Amino acid sequence: MSDLRTIWWEDGVVVTVDQTKLPHEEVFIEMKECSEVASAIGEMRVRGAPLIGVTAAYGLALTAFHSKAEKREEMMKEINESAEALRRSRPTAVNLFWAVDRVLKKARAASGEPKALAKAVVDEAQRMADEDVEANRRMGEHGARLVKDGAVVMTHCNAGSLATVDYGTALGVIRAAWNQGKKISVIATETRPKLQGARLTAYELKRVGIPVTLITDSMVGYVMSKQLVDKVIVGADRIVQDAVINKIGTYTIAVLAQEHDVPFYVVAPKSTFNLKQTSKDVIIEERSSEEVTHFNCQRIAPSEIEALNPAFDVTPLRYVSAVICETGILSTPELEKLTVDHGMHA
Ligand code: MRU
Repeated sequence: MSDLRTIWWEDGVVVTVDQTKLPHEEVFIEMKECSEVASAIGEMRVRGAPLIGVTAAYGLALTAFHSKAEKREEMMKEINESAEALRRSRPTAVNLFWAVDRVLKKARAASGEPKALAKAVVDEAQRMADEDVEANRRMGEHGARLVKDGAVVMTHCNAGSLATVDYGTALGVIRAAWNQGKKISVIATETRPKLQGARLTAYELKRVGIPVTLITDSMVGYVMSKQLVDKVIVGADRIVQDAVINKIGTYTIAVLAQEHDVPFYVVAPKSTFNLKQTSKDVIIEERSSEEVTHFNCQRIAPSEIEALNPAFDVTPLRYVSAVICETGILSTPELEKLTVDHGMHA
C-alpha cells in the first residue's frame, strides 16, 4: 500500500478507509464531527495504535475547525469535551491518550482568537500524521538490518499501513527488508476474533507483492516446532516498564518463540511508549462476547454461552529480544535503562 495513505485531511473532512469492510470492499468514510471519529475508533473502522492516535488528533481538529465559538474559552470547552469522548473510545493503545494530550497542550499554548486556535489544532494534527509516516520509515530502516535474505518472518494482527498513517511498524520493517532486495516471506496469524491477520495483513502484503502464508493462531506452536520461522516481528499498543502490550495472542507467540529459540522483535514508535507505567497500570480492553460466539455475524456457539474477549495481552520483557523504535534498536537492558532514566513519555 505504498501508494495509499490510510488517513488524510481534506478541508474540514477526515477521510479514512473503513477497515471493517476490507479486504472485499475498499470503502472510504468521510468524517466531519469528532463524535464520528470516536465511534469509528470504538467500532474499529480505524484501528492500530498509531492510527488511532492520529485519528483522535484529527477528531479534535474537526471540533476546532467547525466550531462556531466566538470566544477562545468556548472553543477550548468544546475541544475538551471532544477530548473526553475520544478518551472513552478505546482504553489500551496509549497513542490515543498521547495524541489527545499533545493536541490539548498545543491548543492551550496557542495565542489569539478562535481562528488562530483552530489553525494551531489542525496544524498539529497534520504534523502528527506526517511524523508517524516518518517514524515508520525510520523504524523500517533500523529493523531491516535484523532481517536476513531468505528469512521467514512471523507476524501477528496487523501492524502495517492500515495500523498507521502509512508504511507500518512491523510490516514497515518487512517492507524495508523486501525493498532492499531480500527474498523474505511472511507467516501471518489470522488473529481471532477480529481477523486482522487474515483480512488486513494478508491484503496489504498481497498488494505489495510480499509472499504471505496464512495460519490459524493455534498453528503457531506446530509451525515453530517444525523450524519454519526465523523471527517474529510484531507491533505494540503500549510499551511499559516491564512489558509489551499487544493484540491478544502475542504473549503465546512470544513464549513459544523463546521455547524454540526464535528471536521476538517488537516495532513501535515512541508515541507507543509509556515508561512511567507498569503492566499493572494498563487497562486491557474487554470487547463484546459476540465477537467470539459469532463468526461473520453468524452464531457459532450455542446461545447463552459465556465468552471471554480480552483484546490485548501482556508480554513480559524477558520474552522480547529487542524493541525497534524510530531512534534505533533497543535491547531489553537499554529499554530498562530508559525506564530508570525516567521514561521517554512526557
Ligand atoms: O485491536 P487493534 O486491531 O486496534 O489492535 C492492533 C494491534 O494490536 C497492533 O498490533 C498494534 O496496534 C500495533 S499497530 C502498528
